[in-house]
Amino acid sequence: MKMIIDTDPGIDDAMAIAYAVAAPEIELLALTTVFGNTFVGQSSRNARYLLDRLGVDVPVAQGAALPYGASDYQPSAYVHGLEGYGDMMDIPEVGRNHALPAAEYLVEMAQAHKGELVVCAIGPLTNIADALRLDPAFGRNLKQLVIMGGAVYCPGNITDAAEANIYHDARAADEVFATEMETVLVGLDVTLQTLYTPQDFEALAGASVDMGGFLRDISQFYLKFYKEAAGLEGCGLHDSTAVIACAHRHLFDLAEVGVSVALEGPELGATRTDAARPKIKVCRGIDHAAVVGLFSDHVARLP
Ligand code: BDR
Ligand code: CA
Repeated sequence: MKMIIDTDPGIDDAMAIAYAVAAPEIELLALTTVFGNTFVGQSSRNARYLLDRLGVDVPVAQGAALPYGASDYQPSAYVHGLEGYGDMMDIPEVGRNHALPAAEYLVEMAQAHKGELVVCAIGPLTNIADALRLDPAFGRNLKQLVIMGGAVYCPGNITDAAEANIYHDARAADEVFATEMETVLVGLDVTLQTLYTPQDFEALAGASVDMGGFLRDISQFYLKFYKEAAGLEGCGLHDSTAVIACAHRHLFDLAEVGVSVALEGPELGATRTDAARPKIKVCRGIDHAAVVGLFSDHVARLP
């Protein structure tokens, strides 16, 4: 499966990218980056560093720095650390970004791989909305768009009502959900069931010394956040669950519903079912043991 991951690395983003590189069913063509867990320049730097450490030479195209119509964006340093990889500081600058901005790059790649390309969006949806604005055929040219975002049947995480990726650019997300295309939404409804524990990280680091060790180390900050904020002994494999949903749909129970996003007020960023919207596939159930097992099995094979 040909895939581009649109990402804001980010600790669980790094895990998802490592999974995509390790999984034999995925051919990772590129990463596109967006603001979110960190500022976009740092997202790109983190993405290039990770790819280099994984020994993978694919482009990184940098995208949106800010959400639509809002200037008060702040990175989630309290969740992902000051530079996005937990306690790691001064992440080395490796290589350079692709010459094209993310949205243009996505449009070109969707045309070049018409009907074959899966875009897995694991950050705010600004680049995806930008690509749809640039080329109304963008959505139809994709095989599918799989999104980590939203909380349709459960409470949010960044606020009681909203999940972080949707909250960071509610307007862009609403535009994406208004578009007729093959969309799968992998939200907190299922990703909070894929808890990855400190013991899971230790086992991973034992099997995959470099990458597993790196993911274990950067995740200490993230695990601490989960424990302090939610009393959980593990962190959600949010972004990896979305990447896994791209090729393992049978592990998910899907509802076909329309979705819209609250654009203001205390509910800002809430994802609600909306009968007036095109139907998308919303994950509402998951074989969580199988998803966690797939993640461990594949990433454990990395050096
Ligand atoms: C999502 O928000 C970010 O913090 C994570 O990387 C993930 O994409 C979870 O709500
Ligand atoms: Ca993310």
